[in-house]
Amino acid sequence: MKTNYIILGFFALLVAACTHEIINEPTNPNGEIIVVNPGTGGTATNSDTICFNTQVLPLYVSYCGSNGCHSAASAEEGVVTVTYASIMKGIRAKNPNRSEYYTIIGGEMPPRRSPQMSTEQKNIILKWINQGALNTSCVNSCDTTKFTYNDPIKTILSNSCNGCHGVKPGSGNVFLGDYASAQAYINANKVNFLKVINHDPTIAVSKRMPPSGKMQDCQINQFAKWINNGFPQ
Ligand code: HEC
Repeated sequence: MKTNYIILGFFALLVAACTHEIINEPTNPNGEIIVVNPGTGGTATNSDTICFNTQVLPLYVSYCGSNGCHSAASAEEGVVTVTYASIMKGIRAKNPNRSEYYTIIGGEMPPRRSPQMSTEQKNIILKWINQGALNTSCVNSCDTTKFTYNDPIKTILSNSCNGCHGVKPGSGNVFLGDYASAQAYINANKVNFLKVINHDPTIAVSKRMPPSGKMQDCQINQFAKWINNGFPQ
């Protein structure tokens, strides 16, 4: 009987994978839901499902979760925004107006002199809340034939890095807020930069970026191609 369920489950997974459906059953103990074949890297153009891990979490980490603010270590006012569970403390599924960690964005938070989320970024969070604020997870959802600054590097930097590196001087004195600055910095530090985004075990943990966890492999690949092809704009 049990075996039958396992076999059934296996086929259900296969079918879901083929039809690009969302698998609604939690597929791991953390309750993460895997979204198969979502839209392209963090921007959800093809798919309507917002991926928590690649689209929402990087925004909260970058714009709210830096050290000294709402990281696990600092936890300003008891607020931490670097994991699904901690973010859900201020989110009501399908109720953006009662989701404090949404309504506060652009008002009181982030502080006025810190980098601010764009309307587009806020709308990603809004859509995610309206879809039920699920712990959706996307696997390698980006198109590695694209590797120019305007698509997708600028968006990745904006979503995953520039809450900390988008206003001068930038965390660790690294400013990545525009093409010329990002190009100049990375060009001068190519080898180290790739170690940094690959979370290379030979560098200090504090220097592995983004601090919340590695980007998707295909996004790292897009960075590598952008660098190796001379930083096309
Ligand atoms: C939550 C804040 C935060 C986010 C998000 C973040 N960084 Fe950083 N970054 C830092 C801090 C803080 C340092 C300084 C760390 C140190 O010197 O130990 C740093 C340092 C760096 C450095 C210099 C490392 C070195 O070897 O000295 C690079 C390069 C860098 N970040 C790139 C990125 C990139 C690329 C992203 C996005 C993919 C990113 N960071 C996202 C906070 C952040």
